Amino acid sequence: MTDLTSKAMLQTLSGKKPHRTPVWFMRQAGRYLPEYREIRSTIDSFLSLCYTPKLACEVTLQPLRRFDLDAAILFSDILVVLDALDIQVKFEKTGGPVVEKVTAETLPIFSENRFHQTLSPVYETIDLIKQKLPKHVAFIGFSGAPWTLACYAINGSGNHHFTETRVFAYRYPQVFATLIETLTDAIIVYLEKQIESGVEIIQLFDSWSGILPETEFEQWVIKPTAKIVHALAQKYPHIPVIGFPRGAGYHYERYVEQCQVKAVGIDTCVPLHAMKQLQSKTVVQGNLDPLVLAINAKKAVEETQRMLHQLDQNKMIFNLGHGIVPETPIEHVESVLRTIRDR
Ligand code: CP3
Repeated sequence: MTDLTSKAMLQTLSGKKPHRTPVWFMRQAGRYLPEYREIRSTIDSFLSLCYTPKLACEVTLQPLRRFDLDAAILFSDILVVLDALDIQVKFEKTGGPVVEKVTAETLPIFSENRFHQTLSPVYETIDLIKQKLPKHVAFIGFSGAPWTLACYAINGSGNHHFTETRVFAYRYPQVFATLIETLTDAIIVYLEKQIESGVEIIQLFDSWSGILPETEFEQWVIKPTAKIVHALAQKYPHIPVIGFPRGAGYHYERYVEQCQVKAVGIDTCVPLHAMKQLQSKTVVQGNLDPLVLAINAKKAVEETQRMLHQLDQNKMIFNLGHGIVPETPIEHVESVLRTIRDR
């Protein structure tokens, strides 16, 4: 059984008063760390890094050696799920990922054996990491949520509008529903295996949920997410799920109510009073702007103080509203952490 007494993340997520405000950062392992860049330079492709357990484990642990964080997040990427469904994924040296486009004629077929075979290095990485984590550090596994993975599968690459995906969903609703269903089934077994390999918390990244109207948000974000959360809760009731429907705006409240997540990731654009309101329903995680952290340490500290004062610290996991950017100076991260710890 997990040691609840020493892990602030698990205390908060189980509704207990934490011994301190838990904090971790999205993309806490990444290019802003020189030790990450060093390992990255030894390996040709980003996906190879994700699929090399020793290196992926090392990179996961790097931020914990520098900073007093309350969680480690598995080093991987949301797009490995597409790769494991035989949809080709490439990461260009500069710029974002390029994904082989799925069409109505080339929908992925879910073969569980092949899927796990591709992802077996990820499960091995989890096993390595869990043996090395300090006692007070909780271990987060993750997946992209179905809608966001479908965005990349249909659009091919991230253009921040995903117009092709939305057009596809309107034009071929049945076909799109089949794609979402396949992704949902694959994500459930992927997360089950992550849990069996040793993660203690799951985060679902729905990075592009914020581009959908009400009916489609319900259909493509809430319904499949609720199905995943329900399936995991049946088998692993002790594993909390953090949902991150980035940009969900007015949909946040319904997302929390209907998906039954134990905590919700809040993006940078949500005001503190709305976060506070959400705290009456669930634990909130967020939402310092990664750009203020990168550019202005003094302002980042002031914003951190504002969050610490205005939000209920028993129902809050400190984080950013999106991932750390590569330009972030390490001292800025240290300043914000000191502000949280000194409180
Ligand atoms: O430290 C951690 O947070 C764990 C590792 C992690 C990565 N990606 C590593 C990564 C996690 C949790 C992700 C999630 C992810 N990946 C999301 C959801 C969160 C979000 O940002 O909205 C998305 C949309 C992706 C897809 C993705 N992967 C993109 C768009 C990019 C290119 C942009 C970029 O920052 O380069 C990636 C690449 C990626 N994923 C890198 C890292 C460290 C950089 C690649 C490199 O080092 O060469």
